[in-house]
Amino acid sequence: MNTLPKSTALVDGIYIGLMSGTSMDGVDVAVVNFFQEKIDFIHAETFEYPASIKDRLYKITSNKILHNLDDIGQLDADIGIFFGQCANRSIGKSNLNSSEVLAIGSHGQTIWHSPLGSAPYSWQIGNPSIITARTLISTVSDFRNLDMAFSGQGAPLAPAFHLAFLGESNRSRIVLNIGGIANISILDKESPTAIGYDTGPGNCLMDLWHQLHTGEQYDKGGASARAGEILPELLERFLEEDFFQKEGPKSTGRETFNLGYIKSAIKSLGNIENFSPEDIQATLLELTVVSITSNIHALKTHDIKDIYLCGGGSANIFLVEQLKKALGSCVVKSTADLGIDPDHVESCAFAWLAQQRISGRPVTLSTGGERKQLVLGALYQAP
Ligand SMILES: Nc1ncnc2c1ncn2[C@@H]1O[C@H](COP(=O)(O)OP(=O)(O)O)[C@@H](O)[C@H]1O
Ligand SMILES: [Mg+2]
Repeated sequence: MNTLPKSTALVDGIYIGLMSGTSMDGVDVAVVNFFQEKIDFIHAETFEYPASIKDRLYKITSNKILHNLDDIGQLDADIGIFFGQCANRSIGKSNLNSSEVLAIGSHGQTIWHSPLGSAPYSWQIGNPSIITARTLISTVSDFRNLDMAFSGQGAPLAPAFHLAFLGESNRSRIVLNIGGIANISILDKESPTAIGYDTGPGNCLMDLWHQLHTGEQYDKGGASARAGEILPELLERFLEEDFFQKEGPKSTGRETFNLGYIKSAIKSLGNIENFSPEDIQATLLELTVVSITSNIHALKTHDIKDIYLCGGGSANIFLVEQLKKALGSCVVKSTADLGIDPDHVESCAFAWLAQQRISGRPVTLSTGGERKQLVLGALYQAP
C-alpha cells in the first residue's frame, strides 16, 4: 500500500466547527481553542437558514426524483456562501482575524444519506471551496464518505469526540444527542472506543407535523404534544418501520423519517381529519421517547446510569420530562454539566475533526461494527 508521510503531532490552536444537521434549521458555529487536548469556547452561535435556502432544501430532500441538477449545484454554492458569511461573522464577534484560525471543519448539509445501498454514500452540500475563498481559512469537509467506502455507515461521527471530551476513565456514560435524528454514544469505561449509532427520529417528525399544522418551526417546549393524548395504535404503526427492528450500529435520516412516513401510518388507520393534531404530536413525541429508551434499555451488559443530553431536543421540556420518566433509574443531565453547551456539542465535534485532519490523526470509529481508524475529511486549502 502506498503510504503518505505521517505527521501525528496535534496541531493546537483556534478552529471553527460548522454543524448543519438533519433538522435543516440552520448552522451552529463554534469558535474554539484546542490546547493540550482541552477545549476553550471563544464564541458559539446558531444562524438560522434564510427562507430562500430552507425552502429549496425542503424541496430537494422531500423528493428523490430530480427535476433540475442546476438547482442542486446552485444550492450547494449558496449554502457555501452562507456558511462562509456565518464563519466570518463569528470571527468578528470573537475579535479575531481569519489568519488566527487554523482551519474550519464543515459538516455540510446532508441532502441524502444511503448507508445500505450496493454502493453506500452520504451526500452533503455547502461548497467547501467557497467557504475557503470567503473566509481565507482552510476548510475540511466530506467527513463521512471515506468511512462508508471502508464498510462503515459514515454516521454518527460525534461519538469519538464525545469520548475524548465528555468521557471519564472510571465512570461509564451515555451521551444522547437529540437533533433531527437522535443518536447515542456509549462511553464505556471498559472500552477504548465509543460505540454510537442512531436510534431513529429526534425532532424531525415532530417538527414536520407541527409545521404542517401551525406554520411554526417547532413545538416550543413540547406544548402541543403535552396537550394531546398518545394514540397507541398509531404508535404501533410507526414502530413497524424496518429501521427499528435492526440492531446497531445503524444510521438513518429524512430519507426514511419524513412527512410521507407520518401520513401513510395515519392513513392506514383511517381518515387523517379524524385525528387531532395534538394527539398525533403527542404520539410522535412518544415515538422519539420509545425508540431512544428501548435502545438504552437493551444495553444490559453496560449498566450505565449517567445520561448526558445535547442537541436542540434537550430544550423540549416535555420531551425531557417523558424521557426521564421512561428511563427510570437513570440520571439524566445536560452536557452543560460537563462544560459543553448542549447546542454546540456537534459544532465542537466538527472543529475537533478539523483539528484531527490538520494533524493527520486517524479517528477511531465503530460505525461498521468493527473498530477502525481513518483520517477523515478532505482539505480545501487557503492560498
Ligand atoms: N425550545 C425548544 N422546544 C422544543 N424544541 C426545540 C426547542 N429548541 C430547539 N428545539 C428543537 O431542536 C431542533 C434543532 O436541533 P439541532 O440540534 O439543531 O438539530 P440538527 O443537528 O438536526 O440541526 C429544532 O428543529 C427543534 O425541533
Ligand atoms: Mg441544527
